[in-house]
Amino acid sequence: MAVDYTTRDGVAVITLNNPPVNGLGLSTRAGIVEGIERAQNDPAITAIVLTGAGKAFSGGADITEFNTPKATREPTLATVIKAVEGSAKPVVAAIHSVAMGGGLELALGAHYRIAARGAQIALPEVKLGILPGAGGTQRLPRAIGLEAALNMIVSGATVLSDTLAGSGLFDELVEGDLAEAACAFARKVGAKEGPHPKVRERQITHPNAAGFIQFARNSVAAAAKPFPAPHKCIDAIEAGVLNGFDKGLAFERECFVALVQTPKSRALRHAFFGERAASKIPDVPADTPVRDIEQVAVIGAGTMGGGIAMNFVNAGFPVTLLETRQEALDRGLATIRKNYEASVSKGKLEPEALEARMALITPTLSYDDLKNADLIVEAVFEELGVKEQVFSRLDEVAKAGAILASNTSTLDLDKIAAFTKRPQDVVGMHFFSPANVMKLLEVVRGRQTAKDVLATVMKLAKKIKKTAVVSGVCDGFIGNRMIEQYIRQALFMLEEGALPAQVDKAIEKFGFAMGPFRMSDLAGNDIGWAIRRRRYQEHPGMHYSRIADRLCETGRFGQKTGGGWYDYKAGERTAYPSKVVDEMIVAYSKEIGVARRKIGDEEIVERLVLALVNEGAKILEEGIASKASDIDMVYLTGYGFPIYRGGPMLHADTLGLYNVERAIRRYAAQPNGDAWQLAPGIARLAAEGRGFNG
Ligand code: 3HC
Ligand code: NAI
Repeated sequence: MAVDYTTRDGVAVITLNNPPVNGLGLSTRAGIVEGIERAQNDPAITAIVLTGAGKAFSGGADITEFNTPKATREPTLATVIKAVEGSAKPVVAAIHSVAMGGGLELALGAHYRIAARGAQIALPEVKLGILPGAGGTQRLPRAIGLEAALNMIVSGATVLSDTLAGSGLFDELVEGDLAEAACAFARKVGAKEGPHPKVRERQITHPNAAGFIQFARNSVAAAAKPFPAPHKCIDAIEAGVLNGFDKGLAFERECFVALVQTPKSRALRHAFFGERAASKIPDVPADTPVRDIEQVAVIGAGTMGGGIAMNFVNAGFPVTLLETRQEALDRGLATIRKNYEASVSKGKLEPEALEARMALITPTLSYDDLKNADLIVEAVFEELGVKEQVFSRLDEVAKAGAILASNTSTLDLDKIAAFTKRPQDVVGMHFFSPANVMKLLEVVRGRQTAKDVLATVMKLAKKIKKTAVVSGVCDGFIGNRMIEQYIRQALFMLEEGALPAQVDKAIEKFGFAMGPFRMSDLAGNDIGWAIRRRRYQEHPGMHYSRIADRLCETGRFGQKTGGGWYDYKAGERTAYPSKVVDEMIVAYSKEIGVARRKIGDEEIVERLVLALVNEGAKILEEGIASKASDIDMVYLTGYGFPIYRGGPMLHADTLGLYNVERAIRRYAAQPNGDAWQLAPGIARLAAEGRGFNG
């Protein structure tokens, strides 16, 4: 049973008991209604307390039920709230830990609310591409006022119960035993004559509601661009202000039903569950013991090492930072300080915190200082010989059980592990640049990486606020292996008739944060060049456009050299289309005998995105990623794929794999078609009428 019913001296206590967060699924909803009715029929009961067991009052509607028959089966949440609000005996919501979404809406239906201090209160529906669908847009403004409510609803932000003290939401804020206090409060109000107060009967008072709503509309217009939900939140609130509670409620419902079916909402829900699913590894049980991590060391204080050290320091870990030379160490520390200073000047960090964070870093030139480290992350030059030096030295000095991680982006982790006599302790922790900012962490699982090492690193990733995705060992892991095929298509399209600005514009319009050419200019075109030169040797038969090599031969490495695919003005990051480069591209097509043609934006987007999808399907097939949503999380958090499309694999499902297969076969028959080797998994799933996500 998802709801418990007990009595305490004349008070019925209805406790939601649906772990982990008391989601309001069908059986929980039915249990609440049953409890309310039981209490009505028991003459010994004078009042009802509604509360939640475990770690939440309620995290809201059960999102897994959305768009399934269970979501609309009675009692719906609206019916439950009606039963609560209509109870002749007063209902007191006793809120602790978390009251979000439908959970808060349920509490708003109660006659009274008391809350523990520190409880997290939110209507976060907008983050799932929907709006509160059980009266939140109507009752919250009546409880805490139009402005505060609109801000909470449109942003989905979490507010602590303490902050809302005196707002009209809570009748009492409780320090000690919530259940005890709630029952005492219930007894008190149970002794009063009814009817008991209803939030729906309160008035929304505001000196200039129309003006404020217009102001909110203007503010949201810029921020919410591709998302309809924030606008609908405002519309629903306005409907309540103009037409009263019942009409507002009906309009809110209409908007909810429409939004929950949109691909954008599906994508946001996919990302919500994808993030949580990423931390689960199929053959590593949730109860796998983890190693204690207290002391961290980072080797190499360059671009990546500095950022990696900052992640751990920000989470309170003391970090020993090792370099080969004092100048490199000094330079690395100065960069870290500069980054923190920038945060201070933006008001994101207290000045005292800066020194406290710097004090957590112990710089050193000696491996002896690493002997107490529980985790050592290597971020030295990307050369196998250098990695060998470092890992064989670590094997000598690191304590037994220490986790030895490499940040390598292209080298074979199994080879690195073999430089030690403890390959089970070696794992990849592939951070993305800038490492202190980017959310993504690819955790690379070597052939012999121990399960408890993986479990430890996944747990640690949460502490340093990263989205960790496990990847098997292969060239480029998940993210870079896929992006190589995407860039390959982008370059072929230059040969065939497109120009960099057109390609970038088309894919940015699709929603990518940055097109392939602006991205390459930012990362440095020399990086891709070095990888391609390696490929030419390793896979001489593989067909690449040589156009990017031509660019690199002229020294145009990107922003850092003042020019790449685009021109850059000193001190600016704006990309200006380059006449020289565009002419070079046209001349190159001529040289290789290609008659340039007009390539439509639709083709650009399709080829780029399907290149990701096709490689992603191969990655799944080979078991490099254990589920499609892991690939999507890599692309959403590390590569600027538009969140409202849910990542390449969900996007492929939205297109339909039948259509994906046909498009790939069509491109395979065109010039440069040898780059399209259809992933067998796509054909198989398409034939079965399925998608990557079921
Ligand atoms: N429905 C279904 N499952 C949910 C859920 C929900 N509303 N909220 C959380 N879960 C699940 C998670 O998927 C996760 O499952 P797992 O253990 O199988 O991975 C588990 O509960 C624990 O979640 P977290 O790992 O996120 O736990 P935390 O303790 O870190 O956070 C939380 C708890 C703050 C409640 C967070 O889970 C959260 O923000 N949840 C979403 C809240 C939300 O968006 N509510 C609105 C729902 S829509 C709604 O109510 C519509 C209504 O207006 C009609
Ligand atoms: P970098 O050149 O900026 O920094 C490397 C640092 O390591 C230098 O400060 C150097 O002095 C130091 N170093 C070299 N050999 C050393 C040794 N034996 N012992 C201690 N320190 C040593 O390089 P970057 O960009 O930080 O890359 C480091 C690693 O991170 C590489 O493996 C790279 O592939 C990987 N990586 C880089 C990304 C990037 O965008 N730059 C992204 C993800 C991974």
